[in-house]
Formats: sequence, C-alpha cells, structure tokens
Amino acid sequence: MSVEQLPRTIWWEDNAVHMIDQTRLPLQGDVLVCNTYEGVIIAIQTLAVRGAPAIGAAGALGVALWGSTEGMQFETLADEYLVAAQSICDELADARPTAVNLSREVNRLRAVIEKAAAEELSPETLSELLIAEAHKVMEEDEAANRALGDYGAALFDSPTKFLTHCNAGSLATTFYGTALGVIYSAHTQGKVEHVWVDETRPVNQGGRLTAWELLFAGVPSQLICDNMAAFVMGEGLVDAIVVGADRICANGDTANKIGTYGLAIIAKEHDIPFYVAAPSTTFDLELTEGKQIEIEVRDQREIEGITVSGTFDAPSPEISAAFDKMIAEGPAEMPLSKGHHMTIARKGGGFAFDAWFKNTPTHVQCFNPAFDVTPAKYVTAYITERGVITAGEIKEKMA
Ligand code: MRU
Repeated sequence: MSVEQLPRTIWWEDNAVHMIDQTRLPLQGDVLVCNTYEGVIIAIQTLAVRGAPAIGAAGALGVALWGSTEGMQFETLADEYLVAAQSICDELADARPTAVNLSREVNRLRAVIEKAAAEELSPETLSELLIAEAHKVMEEDEAANRALGDYGAALFDSPTKFLTHCNAGSLATTFYGTALGVIYSAHTQGKVEHVWVDETRPVNQGGRLTAWELLFAGVPSQLICDNMAAFVMGEGLVDAIVVGADRICANGDTANKIGTYGLAIIAKEHDIPFYVAAPSTTFDLELTEGKQIEIEVRDQREIEGITVSGTFDAPSPEISAAFDKMIAEGPAEMPLSKGHHMTIARKGGGFAFDAWFKNTPTHVQCFNPAFDVTPAKYVTAYITERGVITAGEIKEKMA
C-alpha cells in the first residue's frame, strides 16, 4: 500500500478526457469519459472532478478536447475559430468560480490558441499543441505537489498528529495532493503518528475521499465529524493542521472548503500551527484581500439530504428482467416516497443506483456556501513548491 498506487485523477486517452468519478467514490471506482467539452463542464459542476488543481487540469483538457474535435471542423484559425474558441474557454473558466486554478489553466490554453492564430497555424497543429500544453499542466502540478510535500514534511521532526479538512489529496490534484502531499511525504519519512480526517459536510469529501486515500496509502487515520475538531484539539490530540486552498490572495487570505475558517480560529485558541499547502498556481496576486473572492453557493439539496451510489444484483432472473424492462430506454427514475430519488442503470451483470434520500423537513430552506475565507492572520505558513513562506513573503515569492 502506497500513495504511488493511487489511481490517476484525470487523464487523456483516445481523444477523450477520462477521470475517476469522485461522486461515486469510495463505493465505486467508476471512470467517467468525456467526449465533449460540455461533458467536462458538467463533470466539473457535479464534482465528478473537484479540488482546485484537478479542476484546473480538467479545464485545460476541456479546451484541448474542443480543439481536437469541434475545432477541427474549421479550415483555418481565422476569426470564426477564434470567436468560438474564446467562448468555449469562457464557459470552461466559469464552470466554478472560487478556485483560481480553473480560470488560470484555461487561460494558459487560451494563450496557446491566440499565439497559434497569430502565427496562422492550422487547426490540426493547434490541436496537438493544446494536448501537449494540457499534459504540461498536469505534469507541472504533480511535480509541484511532490516538491511542496517534501518542504512540508521538513517542518516536522518527530511523529506528528495532524488534522486535515476536505480532500486536498491526490484526487484533488493531478496526483499526490497538497495537504495530503505533505502528509504522504511525512509518512514516508516516518513522521506521521496520526491523521484526524474532518468529514467535511455537506459533500463529505473528507469522509469519502480523504479517508479512502489515507487507508489506501496506509497512513494511520481516524474520521471525525466536523463538530468534533475542537474537542480533539482541546484534548491535546492535534500537533498541526494542514489544509489545501482554492485561492490565496496577495495578503494571504485563503479560500478553502467551508469550515476551514472555523478550524483556523480553534487552532489559534489552542496554539496549534495552521498550515495552508498549495502550489503557486493557487495564488492570485490580482486579488489583494479575501473579500474579493467569489464564494460558490451550491444547491441546497447537498444539505437537505444524502446521496448514496452503489451496485446490486437482482435477487432473481424475474426481478432482473423487470429492472431491464424499466431501463430499456436508459437510466430510469425509481418511484420513491417522501421526495427521495433513485436512478437505476445497468452495470455489467448487475445494476448501479444513484440515490438521494431527503432527511430534512419538506419545505426546509438551506444556505449552502461551498467555501469560506480564512484571514491571513490565522495562517502560520504557506507550504508551496517554492518553499515554506509567510503571508508577508507572498508578493515576492509568488510573483
Ligand atoms: O468543492 P471541492 O471539493 O472542489 O473543494 C475542494 C477544496 O476545498 C480543497 O480543499 C481545495 O481545492 C484544495 S485541493 C488541493
């Protein structure tokens, strides 16, 4: 068991974007194949691919996918191509607002398109350049994560009890992870005593993804509900907190998964160092402070109920035939009471289901901000591939 054996998050194969469908982990290791850039946008918005660097890679691959499919229908890179390509880039960049990596990587590919048009290259040549650039985005991300992991591990010299929030692991990046990258490097060096994993409501990226990654990599860990973090800190069971980031402003204010801000305040109260681990691609020097960060507000169904995915075998050939009849024209909605939903589809010799069970009152109103901003004053240091830096060093080191 080792981090190196974790599956890749996202990759290019057969002129299509492939990704592990993170909405189905850990119960299903399904691979989602996107053949159109619109499919990539849906995957980003539904969290099939999520985590700041991973959606950056998805955005880059989405542009490359358009360039190597629909983009090939143009004869030249003249005006019509450019108008279409700019609009595809805008759509991809806007698929989710908070993590800067998405627009940054899409804009990186946009620049390749603009340069190719200025040089009057052909759509075929541009398609190859876009695929190559998207691969560079992914390679650089993995290299940055491995480097920041080692810088972070060097901060600790004895077995350490960590706490982390959300999933800033391999799945949130192209490989290895940021906050978990630090933990993986520290584990390799024998410096991890324990990792507390915040469940991370409402989508449970901690309970579903981080807990799974750490088990897979053989790192000792325990899952807790978010509201238990103060208790474990108060009991002296946490030496350091390491979280990832979606956007870090020039002054060090940091957007990360909702709940991070509260953790940082509790850490300060208990004199526990609070580290943000992120590659340089997550720093946004154009924003001076956290108030300028757009916070994504998501569907209230994420709070109103729980989603469960799985597979089952029909208990008899008759029942199997009945299900087959029901799904003859594609995945079918099962009629359920009390507002619950279940979709059933064929999977191999059995069936797959996606169920949403409502566990709140019928007309409940919810507010579902997906991120919060931790003011720089609560962050002990930022662990990056360029070294461990303080808020005061961001403008110089991340320029
Ligand atoms: O909504 P998500 O799952 O995309 O949110 C992800 C996070 O907040 C992560 O902690 C962050 O992107 C850092 S990932 C290296």
